[in-house]
Amino acid sequence: MRKNFLKLSDHTPKAVLQLVEETLRLKGVGRGEKPLAGKSIGLIFAKSSTRTRTAFEVGMFQMGGYAILLRPDEIQLTRGESLHDTAKVMSRYLDGLVVRTYSHEELEELALHSSIPVINALTDKYHPCQAIADYATLLEVKGKLKGLKLAYIGDGNNVANSLFIGGAMLGVDVTLATPKNYMPPQDVIDTAIAIANETGARLNITENPQNAAKGADALYTDVWVSMGQEAEAKLRQEEFKGFIIDDRLLGLAKPDCKVLHCLPAHRGEEISASVIDGPASVVFDQAENKLHAQKAILKMCLGD
Ligand code: CP
Ligand code: NVA
Repeated sequence: MRKNFLKLSDHTPKAVLQLVEETLRLKGVGRGEKPLAGKSIGLIFAKSSTRTRTAFEVGMFQMGGYAILLRPDEIQLTRGESLHDTAKVMSRYLDGLVVRTYSHEELEELALHSSIPVINALTDKYHPCQAIADYATLLEVKGKLKGLKLAYIGDGNNVANSLFIGGAMLGVDVTLATPKNYMPPQDVIDTAIAIANETGARLNITENPQNAAKGADALYTDVWVSMGQEAEAKLRQEEFKGFIIDDRLLGLAKPDCKVLHCLPAHRGEEISASVIDGPASVVFDQAENKLHAQKAILKMCLGD
């Protein structure tokens, strides 16, 4: 059966754990395995990307395949060709599509009309590829996932949504500290809680970053202003004041607490320079692990 990777909750907790473990296994293997020889993917990126796009292109190459970048303004999509026709045509040439776009519903529509696997490289609602790299990084640095205390400080955005659901699936105790109007949508919260009831993960949402950080094994943050929210930048910079991972907040966590950030980061907004460039930070290992996570996802979706 065709396997898409649109959001974590489409998959079982077991499959998500397998992806996390496969990420670290592939990191160990390096360029030694070519499970996607002769296969091609298209990368449709409607938003900027430094890491995800590079990781998919390089990852595909390292596994013996080929990746072609299809910028929306260079294909007929932005000249009125429908998603439906684009998906049907692409399915005749390619073995998979990796898509970064705005509306998650549009991605679902594209997937509906494709006969090849579609992978979500970020939508406004979810960033599932990121969550695989994040939990692989936590497993790598902590040696386990079950029972870890992860505190996410900041916007209840695409990254937070996938992290919350992913934590529920993997048995990680996730606390989200977000301002009241920036919590994840109710359906994301409901999905995460339903999964956590099965796995035993403990989930919390608070408006208090200090309470979230207390005794945490890992702290995580992301930008206050995501791609597409530029018009709200001024308001958000006001509303998120205090939701910064700085030395004071880090001091409330466990002494061996690690700090994650999906990047790109804004030093002095959601994270201080002293923390992101300090000894607790694993953000560049996390960025490196995106390469191996994207490889694991490609292999699951496109492999034989
Ligand atoms: N973390 C992440 O997805 O980075 P890019 O936007 O650079 O791909
Ligand atoms: N929340 C951020 C993540 C970037 C990788 C955004 O959507 O812009």
